[in-house]
Amino acid sequence: MNQQKIEVLVIGSGIAGLFYAIHCAEFAQVTIVTKGTIGESNTMYAQGGIAAVFDKTDSIENHVHDTLVAGDGLCNEKAVRLITQNAKHAILELDKLKVKFDKKETGTFDLHREGGHSHARVVHTTDATGKEVENALVNQVRSHNNITILENCFAVELCVTDNTCTGVIAIENKTNELLHIHAEAVMLASGGAGQVYKLNTNPSIATGDGFAMAERAGAAISNMEFVQFHPTTLYEPGNQVFLITEALRGFGAELKNKRGDTFMEKYHPLKSLAPRDIVTRAIVNEMKKSGEPCVYLDLREFNTQELQKHFPNIYDRCKQAGLNLTKDMIPVVPAAHYMCGGVVTDLKGKTSIKNLYACGEVSCTGVHGANRLASNSLLEGLVFAESAASDSKTLLQSAIPLANPIVIMQLNKHEDADLSSMKKYVQQLMWRYAGIVRQGTELNYCEEELKELHLKLTSRISLHGISVEVMEMLNLVETSLMIVQAALLREESRGCHYRTDFPEKKMMAPETEKYGHIQGV
Ligand code: FAD
Ligand code: SIN
Repeated sequence: MNQQKIEVLVIGSGIAGLFYAIHCAEFAQVTIVTKGTIGESNTMYAQGGIAAVFDKTDSIENHVHDTLVAGDGLCNEKAVRLITQNAKHAILELDKLKVKFDKKETGTFDLHREGGHSHARVVHTTDATGKEVENALVNQVRSHNNITILENCFAVELCVTDNTCTGVIAIENKTNELLHIHAEAVMLASGGAGQVYKLNTNPSIATGDGFAMAERAGAAISNMEFVQFHPTTLYEPGNQVFLITEALRGFGAELKNKRGDTFMEKYHPLKSLAPRDIVTRAIVNEMKKSGEPCVYLDLREFNTQELQKHFPNIYDRCKQAGLNLTKDMIPVVPAAHYMCGGVVTDLKGKTSIKNLYACGEVSCTGVHGANRLASNSLLEGLVFAESAASDSKTLLQSAIPLANPIVIMQLNKHEDADLSSMKKYVQQLMWRYAGIVRQGTELNYCEEELKELHLKLTSRISLHGISVEVMEMLNLVETSLMIVQAALLREESRGCHYRTDFPEKKMMAPETEKYGHIQGV
């Protein structure tokens, strides 16, 4: 096994990992390992933007309030205040790093509005904000002397001794060799797990590796039942899911049924701009009632120029699908989008394991509670990355040399048998039994099926050893199990977790209701 000894190790190259790396590189040597090419991440595909208060009629209190309302009683208000108060600073930092956000002629940021936001506060680059941000951050890390990037390097296990993280074991794709990286501080920024579900907005890298690795290492994990489904993705069976940004609804697009009638007024006073969980369930209900496979977004009142200016990618993608947005409504369906739960951290991104930080979608910082407010994810990644970097500086200054643990792991050097049918099965199982609407006996069935698959995979690993393919599959199954078991434990409906056998919200102590709490903390 190849060995490396470094100061700071970052797992993942999305917004959280890259921003943390840039800040840590001011005082340390940093290595980033990422399982694909550096830009491949959920961040790359983010459309809407980053929430921050810039409008004079808006306030941080409004942003806090909207986040707490979306989080449905489970947010940690301190974490919410941390991100909302630091949002402006984070955007200005990105501005300095040459991210080109859309601006008005006056030079101020052009702000979009999204679901659950009481004001227009989403800073964006047309409808491809993630690509602009990711590319700018990648340029920064590539040109930094203190940062080393290991692409196509798959993190397999966190090395933990005496509840202290000492590094990671990874597989280098190029050489198909195991690599043991020994580090003084480790940042887990491995993103989400959308691939758990048949329909999802995430790229193929989002297989929940970080959640599973952290669980195997013994880290505290919470709120995994809160999987956010985005209400609007292009309905085009057989094709890769394409997100239709919520900012379109903020722009004035309305949800309608096939007949062209609006329906959201029956579900929430904010209608098409209600929080995501409410819009998603309303759409499912309308589809069930009508027997139609989708609902529609109506943009026909806007002219082509306006649409092309603000939403050029969506305009082009819809054109490709044969839709003329000034004449046709866009057929849309919900899809799995974002993990609100994850590895529990404090306000400095510290996990329950010493020297291990977590940041971005893999983390559970308390910001999102039971449901994330749109465009708060990129923001959370930025603010917590900076906070964790500042804590890492202190950690490195007081670092005690740690023993290098002996790691025994067998690599399967032969081609691993095809696991794609197992992946498909898990995705269908999760979509059917642990999706938008859940029920106890169905969750129990799903858990049993997943346990059986888990046993098959672990036996196979003990027989043949590990490979990227088998570990991704194991991670997908373990993350699915965490979601299902958490969904079984939560015998109520709250935020994006909805159970037909427990349709009501449980009362909480007034203090908890106000400030929220994270399970297990
Ligand atoms: P990611 O950006 O997903 O990066 C994770 C990184 O970890 C990747 O580089 C991946 O390759 C790497 N990795 C994973 N596992 C391993 C492993 N085993 N070994 C090595 N590397 C690994 N949020 C907003 O706030 N605003 C938006 O407008 C918005 N729009 C979105 C649109 C879409 C289509 C999607 C999918 C998400 C959107 N989100 C949005 C959510 C947001 O983009 C993500 O939550 C956020 O980008 C997560 O950032 P991250 O750095 O935590 O993870
Ligand atoms: C979107 O653009 O609708 C996605 C925004 C988000 O997930 O925060």
